[in-house]
Formats: sequence, C-alpha cells, structure tokens
Amino acid sequence: MHLGLDLGTGSAKVALYGEGGERVREASASYAVRAPHPGWAESDPGEWWAALGRVTREVVGEDGGRVRALGLSGQMHGVVLSDAEGRPLRPAVLWADARAASVLDIYRALPQDLRLTLRNPITAGMAGPTLLWLREHEVEVYAGARWALQPKDWLRLRLTGEARAEPSDASGTLLYDLGRDGWNAPVADALGLRSDLLAPLTGSRSVAGTLTPAAAAHLGLPAGLPVAAGAADTAAALLGTALPENQIQLTVGTGAQLVVRSMALPQAREGLHVFRTAQDQGGYTLGAVQNAGLALEWARRTLRCDWEEFYTLARGAEPGSRGLLFLPYLTGDRTPHLDPHARGGWLGAGLEHDPSHLARAAFEGVALSIREALLLLPGTDRPTIRLAGGGSVHPWWRQLLADILGRPLDVLEVPGASVYGAALLAQSAVTGRPPEVGPPHTEAIIEPHADVDWSDVAGRFSAAYGALRGWFDRKQ
Ligand SMILES: Nc1ncnc2c1ncn2[C@@H]1O[C@H](COP(=O)(O)OP(=O)(O)OP(=O)(O)O)[C@@H](O)[C@H]1O
Ligand SMILES: [Mg+2]
Repeated sequence: MHLGLDLGTGSAKVALYGEGGERVREASASYAVRAPHPGWAESDPGEWWAALGRVTREVVGEDGGRVRALGLSGQMHGVVLSDAEGRPLRPAVLWADARAASVLDIYRALPQDLRLTLRNPITAGMAGPTLLWLREHEVEVYAGARWALQPKDWLRLRLTGEARAEPSDASGTLLYDLGRDGWNAPVADALGLRSDLLAPLTGSRSVAGTLTPAAAAHLGLPAGLPVAAGAADTAAALLGTALPENQIQLTVGTGAQLVVRSMALPQAREGLHVFRTAQDQGGYTLGAVQNAGLALEWARRTLRCDWEEFYTLARGAEPGSRGLLFLPYLTGDRTPHLDPHARGGWLGAGLEHDPSHLARAAFEGVALSIREALLLLPGTDRPTIRLAGGGSVHPWWRQLLADILGRPLDVLEVPGASVYGAALLAQSAVTGRPPEVGPPHTEAIIEPHADVDWSDVAGRFSAAYGALRGWFDRKQ
C-alpha cells in the first residue's frame, strides 16, 4: 500500500492506495487561510501539522504496517521560513498573498538575460518576491531563518528531519533556472537573496528521507518509512490523471488551472507560466486563474447560503444575469491580467437585480475568467477539455463551464488527482520504476449548449477589467 498526503490551501487530503492503484480510504480536514492585512494570505503550519496527523491516523487505521511508502503533494509558490528543525518562524505566506507587489520592481530590474532564465512572468505570491518582502520588512526573522521551503517541502522536513526541495515546486518560485534545471543562484545573487535558504534539490520520485519516530507517532505509521520527495499539486495531478501531450486539462478548485503538458520544456508565453513536471525533463504551460472556488465561496458566504442554496439561487436567474457582472479578482489576478491590485465585486447592479442574479453572476464571472485564460493557451488540435478538481462537482456548474468555454468537457473520474499523484510517486520511489498509470475513466462528456451566445457577455466582462485597471492601481 502507498499513502499520498496533499497539503492543499484550504484542506489537507490523505489517501491510501493498494498496489494496483485502487483507493482504499481517504479523508480530509480543512484549516484557515488568514488575511491579517488586506491582500495578505497566510496559514499556520502548526494547523497543517495537526490536521495531517488527525487525518492520516484516520486513513491508515490498522494498516500502518502494510504501508510501504508515502509521498507528498502540495500547494505551490508559498514560503515557510523555518529553523533547522523545521520549526516555523512566522506563519506561511501563501500563493494568494499579494504583499510582494511592492517589491516586484526590484525583480523587473534584473538584467534581461537573467530574467529569461526564469521563463515566467514576475508575479506576487511566488517565493522569490515574497522572500524579498520578508527581507525588507521582517529583517530579524529573515536573518534568523535556516530554510525557506515550499509548503510540502516544509512538511517533509518535519516528517524526516531532512530539508529537500524538488523541481516541480522549485520551478514555481521565481528562483529557479528552468533551462538548467536547478536553483538560480545568479538571480538570487543579483537580488541579494540568501541562496543558503534554498534546500538541496532531489528528484520528485526519489526517497527523500524516512519518518522520524516523533513524526511516525504523530501520523500513526512506523518509524523509518520511506518518504518520497513528491511534487507540486498541479504536477502531481498531471501524473494522477496521466495527462497526454497536446490535451488541455482544466482543474477547478480554490483557483483554476489550465494546463498543457509537453515532453520538452515549453517556450515562455505572455501571461502564462512554465513549470517542471514531476517526470524527468518534462514541462507544462499553465494558465493560473487565481480566484475560482475561492471567489464562489466568498460570494456564497456573503449571500449567507450553503452550497445547495447557492446553486438553487443561481439557477433561478437567466443566463447573463440580466447584465450583472461579477469580477472574481478577490486576491488580484494572475492569468490573464497579472495584476495583484485587481479586486472583485459585482458591477452593473440595478433595481432589476435580486440575490439570484448576484449568485449566478458569481459563477459566470469565474467561468468568464477561465475563458479569458483559455484564449492565451497554445492551440491544440483536441477540442475537448478534460475537467477535474473538487470545485467542479456540481452538474449545473459543469454545464455552465462548458457553455461559457464553448468546448466539450470530459469530466474525469479521478477524485483527488493530486493526492493520487503523490501516492504514485511514493510507489515509484520504492520500486524504482516510473509511475505506471493508465488513462483515467470518464465520468461524463458535457457538450456546450449552442442556444446562448456568450461572446457579448465575455466582451463586456473583458471591457470591465480594462475600464477599471487604472482605478485598481490608484486605490493603492
Ligand atoms: N459545491 C461546490 N461548488 C463549487 N465550488 C465548491 C463547492 N464545494 C467546494 N467548492 C470550492 O472548491 C474548492 C476546493 O476544491 P479542491 O479541494 O479541489 O481545491 P484545491 O484547489 O485542491 O484547493 P486546495 O489548495 O485547498 O487543495 C474550495 O475553494 C471550495 O470553496
Ligand atoms: Mg488541491
């Protein structure tokens, strides 16, 4: 048996799999993302640790002795500053945190040849800019840190006592040389960042340590169990869904990700990211829609509904929400606008609107934002888009996504693709064989309805951001 641990933004998911990949048990527990200042997003690693202990013990049950290895996946881009033992020195700064917007000019001033080695747009929320901010604003914490780790790498340090990083997460820090496949010491030097904070790199499917007795007791597993390095959650999900080249995959969760994979490292493209996969040499192009489930969740809470009530409300309004728009940019925007100052909200309300329009506009706004990101992706010759993720389970929402994207959706039957990918990496680490995973089952193919033309609404949606861009900047 193999165990996957996925350290998500909103929740930890743990799942146990048999030798043939069959899922034996799984469970999850959520924790808080806090905004102590507007635009910040932090979590307490102590809460991650407590949640993972609880959930892992529940999932493992009496089977602790039969687990051969565990693997990790996790939310990308964030930073945990810790001491040598992995004790966090401050809350984790997450990917959705926009504080580093104030230091991006330092990054933008890098010589062009160095910038090109990053192959990614300079955005707040990535570890490199966040570290610059911490260096300037929390001088003593920065100076006293031993490691600056991505969330799942911090977790592995706590589990094994060894600090390691791996390419799929490291390539999302803006401190990585994508072409050379290693930490980007010249960039760190040019920025005046401490390279010694970056942990040694190892392969995603290597054994990166074994469980310490204390960690083993916390998780209900035997001490000495091999822990695979694992991968960033998006990279782990590509593995868990066996994504072929040239096929677009959309994952809707807290954020939404549009991914196209390639065997060679893809070229940089305006507004899109290029990161390493968990497989040797591979890379993928990513459109990162920052506010998906996160924005729906906010709208739902604002309207004081549970999910069922929220869907019922939204279904009561007509397509296009009578002209009411919702901009989902609650944490700023990455793909397509790369604007940490953007903000969300309803726009164009009149006396003709009621809460059903507010609810429906929220779903439409998230889908329209994904549609804009889709337009930037490299073309593929497969019109159907694969759909996955815990934020896209409702049939009405899936249909609306198909309608607004104007593309058939192949809904995958892979619950917890990231945690499955993490378990596959664990299996591969102990067998020494590349992960073996067949094509996923299709739960449903959803054809877009042809009766509503969304191009006008999409045009108004784009124009709204265009009109507000200057105002977002002035708000600072
Ligand atoms: N019924 C629902 N309809 C739409 N969105 C939902 C629904 N239930 C939960 N969500 C949203 O889906 C997201 C959780 O999905 P999922 O667990 O796949 O997220 P994730 O991106 O993997 O996040 P994490 O980083 O926490 O792992 C949350 O933002 C939540 O608000
Ligand atoms: Mg996740």
